[in-house]
Formats: sequence, structure tokens, C-alpha cells
Amino acid sequence: MRTRDLIEGVLNKSSVFKSKEKLYPEYIPPELPHREKQLRELALLFKPLLTEPGHISQRVLLVGGIGTGKTVTARAFGREFSSLAKSRGINLEYIHVNCYRDRTLYTVISSIAKQVGMPVPTRGLSAQEIYLGLLEFLEDENKYIIVALDEFDYFIDFAGSEAVYFLVRTYDEYPEYTKRINFIFISRNTLSLSKLDPATESYLLRNIIRFEPYTAKELYDILDSRRNLAFYEGTVSDEIISYIAEIEGRDTGGRGNARVAIEILLLAGEAADSEGSPRVTLEHVRKAHITVNPDIAILYDTLFYLQLHEILFLLAAIRTLRRKQQPYVRIGEVEEEYRNVCEEFGEKPRKHTQVYEYAMNLKKLGLIEAKTSGKGYRGKSTLIGINAGPLEFLELKVLDILNKKIGERVHGRTH
Ligand SMILES: Nc1ncnc2c1ncn2[C@@H]1O[C@H](COP(=O)(O)OP(=O)(O)O)[C@@H](O)[C@H]1O
Ligand SMILES: [Mg+2]
Repeated sequence: MRTRDLIEGVLNKSSVFKSKEKLYPEYIPPELPHREKQLRELALLFKPLLTEPGHISQRVLLVGGIGTGKTVTARAFGREFSSLAKSRGINLEYIHVNCYRDRTLYTVISSIAKQVGMPVPTRGLSAQEIYLGLLEFLEDENKYIIVALDEFDYFIDFAGSEAVYFLVRTYDEYPEYTKRINFIFISRNTLSLSKLDPATESYLLRNIIRFEPYTAKELYDILDSRRNLAFYEGTVSDEIISYIAEIEGRDTGGRGNARVAIEILLLAGEAADSEGSPRVTLEHVRKAHITVNPDIAILYDTLFYLQLHEILFLLAAIRTLRRKQQPYVRIGEVEEEYRNVCEEFGEKPRKHTQVYEYAMNLKKLGLIEAKTSGKGYRGKSTLIGINAGPLEFLELKVLDILNKKIGERVHGRTH
């Protein structure tokens, strides 16, 4: 193929994405479903900055696990709140510092100074001196700031209790200054605060806003709004969104991490593009899931140690799911397929109660998902799904192992 044609081919290739960057971690969406309560609390706590600027130096602590929306909520709040302040004639700026990158008092303070546009000599000054310069600078410019110290746990570990104390007690140290610096501390858990002296700890715990892991329903809403921003209409079905939400939902066995959920959606879209598929399928999601969750690859190594009939049941589940093209199928359907599979491999099928036990073992091992049917199904029944990687790939793996196991046995018999 001519080089030009080749390149043009790539350029003209259609994509499921209309705006992929809407799925990148640094993107701040226009709405944050299920973080309304946290945003309201922030607004309430920082309201005095608008009504009586300079009267208080506010400190708020955001606490929650990874991917619960702490960073994006702080940034979105900071962006809107400072813009509202400006429209009321208050010169307020939001500053975000990542303490994973800037872990010492010196680098944190330098970063704040740089972001407010204060000229800082590159060497010769101590952290305290720069901070004093910052207080002066804010005074001169008549400026207020909200500083978010994100990944604050790292700052506590690296900079230590003294440094935290220094920041928190700014206006006790320098009472002659107007209170212009406010803080949002962002931390994974309150446990890391116990490394501080008790006075500072209790000080930080005064205004605390918690971020709980997301449920499947909440993740559904988050993914739904991202899908509409990032994908062309009709390329990602509701079923795909709800499947990802259930993989990651706190109440459905996941970690409740929105970052991972969005990343799965992104990678699934990329998988669809790379196959030239006009639509994102469940297989694309499974493929994406294994990429973000390398533990699954380790699961594959455990396949070999399963009992023969557990593997036969797993194969039946894979085939039923592939045939039906649904995220979940009834256990009864899998059992029917299991009998076919047994026949194929010359095995006597086990009884129903035994088969149910195989299913529960596979669930415990993380190879399949099992849940009770909800609405949309007639009667109550156990539903079986598989998130662990593309089914096509998994089927090959399972067949390979079955052939080895059964081959071995046949081999053993002849001797
Ligand atoms: N409520 C929400 N609505 C929309 N997107 C969200 C929401 N919560 C989290 N996200 C997205 O999920 C990802 C992880 O969120 P982030 O704020 O980085 O979590 P944390 O800082 O708690 O680890 C980001 O891409 C963020 O935009
Ligand atoms: Mg974060």
C-alpha cells in the first residue's frame, strides 16, 4: 500500500469517540452526579469568604478512598467558587497542589507562590521566608486563596507533623495579617492524621467531608453522563454502561472507584476502534477490564488447579454467555449447557446441588459472578456472569486445560 493511502486510511477511519478527552482523568465535567451533598457542604463552609472576606481562614478536610471524586470535586468547586467570588468583586483564586509530587514544606510553598504569580528567587530562601513573602504578596495584591493540598497523606509522611502544624497555624503565628489563605486538605483516610500531634489532628478533623465509594447505581449515572460527552450516539448501549457499573460498584462486589469505571469505558471504546467495530460490545468491556485489573491474569493460572467438573461448568458458562450475548444468564441455562459439555467430553454430569456448589466455588475464586435476579426476570433465579477477560480468550484457555486434564487421564488409563 502507498504510504499516503495508508496514512489516509488511518485518518479517515471512523471512531466510536466524538471527544475522547472527556474520559481523561484531568477533565472536569460540567456536572458531578452524586457529589451534590459534598459540593453543598463546601459552599457552606467557604461562604464566609464571600460575606466577610478576611475574617476567617477556613480549613476543610476531604476524606475518601481512591476514585471517589475528591480531586474532581475540589477542582470543580474551586473553579466555580472563585469565579463567583470574582463576579462579586472579590479577588479569590483556587490553587491545587499535588503533594505526591510536592512533598516537602519548601516545594509546597514554592508551588503555591508560583501559582499565584509571585516572583520567587530560585535559591537562598527558606520555606518560612517564602511563606512570609506570600503573605505580603497577597496583602499587596488584595488577594485571597483557597489552597487544596491533594494527596495530603504524602505530605504528612514526608514533611512531618511540624510542617503541617506550621501551615495550619499560619494566623496564630502571624496575627497581624488579614486571613487570606484557606485550605482544603484531601486525604485517603483519617488514619494518616493520627501521625500528627493530637492538637493538629483534632484541628483538621473539625470540618470533615466524606466521600464514600460509589454504588453501581451511582456509577451508572456517572458513566451515563460521560458516555454522552465522549461517544457518538448509539455506539455505547445502556447495557454496556450498567455492566461496567456493576463490575466496579461497591455494592456489587467492586471497589466503587469511578476512575477505574471511566477507564474501562475508555479502553473498551479503544478496543472497539482498533477492531473497526461500530459499537462497543461486552467483549470489549471484558478486554478492558483485564487491562485495568492485572490480578485477572493471575486468576488464569489458577484454572489448572480447578476440579474437572468446575472447569466443565466454567466452559458451559462461557458458551452460554457467548451464545446469548448478554452480561448475565440464568444458572439453569448454564446447567443445560453443562450437560452438553459433559457429553462432549465423555463425562457423567453431576447432580443439581453439586453443580450449584461448583458455581459458588468459582464465584469465591473470582472466576465468575453470581447474583440473584432482580427486575426484568420472571421468578427468582441465580444469574451467572463473567467479567474476567474476553470470553473468546478464556474459552481457548479452558479448552486447552480440559484437553490436558482429560488427555492425561485417558493416557493414565492405558498404562
Ligand atoms: N461524581 C462524579 N461525577 C463525574 N465524574 C466523577 C465523579 N466522581 C469521580 N469522577 C471521575 O472519576 C475519576 C476519579 O475521580 P477523582 O476525583 O480523581 O478521585 P479521587 O481524587 O477521590 O481519587 C475522575 O476522572 C473524575 O472526573
Ligand atoms: Mg485524587
